[in-house]
Amino acid sequence: MELLRTTHLGKIYGGQVTQQALGDISFSVEKGEFVGIMGPSGSGKTTLLQLIATIDKPTSGEVLIDGQNPHLLSHNELAQFRRQQLGFIFQDFNLLSTLTILENIVLPLTLEGAKVSTMVEKAHAIADKLGITAILEKRPYEVSGGQAQRTAIARAIIHEPKLLLADEPTGNLDSKSSLDVMETLTAINQADGTTLLLVTHDAVAASYCHRVLFIKDGELYNEIHRGDSRQAFFQKIIDMLSLLGGNAHDLSTIRV
Ligand SMILES: Nc1ncnc2c1ncn2[C@@H]1O[C@H](COP(=O)(O)OP(=O)(O)OP(=O)(O)O)[C@@H](O)[C@H]1O
Ligand SMILES: [Mg+2]
Repeated sequence: MELLRTTHLGKIYGGQVTQQALGDISFSVEKGEFVGIMGPSGSGKTTLLQLIATIDKPTSGEVLIDGQNPHLLSHNELAQFRRQQLGFIFQDFNLLSTLTILENIVLPLTLEGAKVSTMVEKAHAIADKLGITAILEKRPYEVSGGQAQRTAIARAIIHEPKLLLADEPTGNLDSKSSLDVMETLTAINQADGTTLLLVTHDAVAASYCHRVLFIKDGELYNEIHRGDSRQAFFQKIIDMLSLLGGNAHDLSTIRV
């Protein structure tokens, strides 16, 4: 079953100088797939994710999520679609510092008007899975980067989205916390069958994916599949990044 399809997706940013960020991108993702997106800085990865996330509108082509084109929905329908079907994880966590970790996690349910007892129950179940039960009463500035990102993941999955979109979720983390986050995402993908799209510069993080798409200058450049060995996949990713050039090949973040 197909969950996501982009057809001839393109984005030109307006302004004083127009900038073509994406040319003509077509690909599809199966339900339950875990797909990585890599490419040099400025190649259009964040733009692609934002078009899929409906944070921004394409200038050409279309996005289908579970057969629906979210860009055709009305303002209110779109807000509801995003709240129910999509989850987002960002590099800088995006937690609200005035709220506790628990309150941050249940925020999407608060917006839905869920019952407090239901929310707290769900938050505890997820916190338990992600190993952040002990910090639920703390504030974001009182926890580590890895704990903050796991909080953001908990918030992104508490409403059980069909599609989880992550833009460099390990970009601000040390190697140990990065591995924790990648293992957490893998567990979510496997246990819940959540479809995942992950933008990353980190070849180790990408090696957790089933498949990696490479983007260059706003166009699809290539894709590779994982197969049995993560180690061998990691090597294939490194080789592809060398071919791609640019600063996609960030040696400082390579960890095996
Ligand atoms: N809001 C914007 N207005 C104008 N141009 C933009 C805007 N956002 C991005 N761009 C341009 O579009 C291109 C793609 O940017 P994008 O942020 O998608 O790249 P990226 O692959 O995510 O890069 P990075 O790896 O550095 O995060 C770049 O040339 C960028 O300068
Ligand atoms: Mg980006």
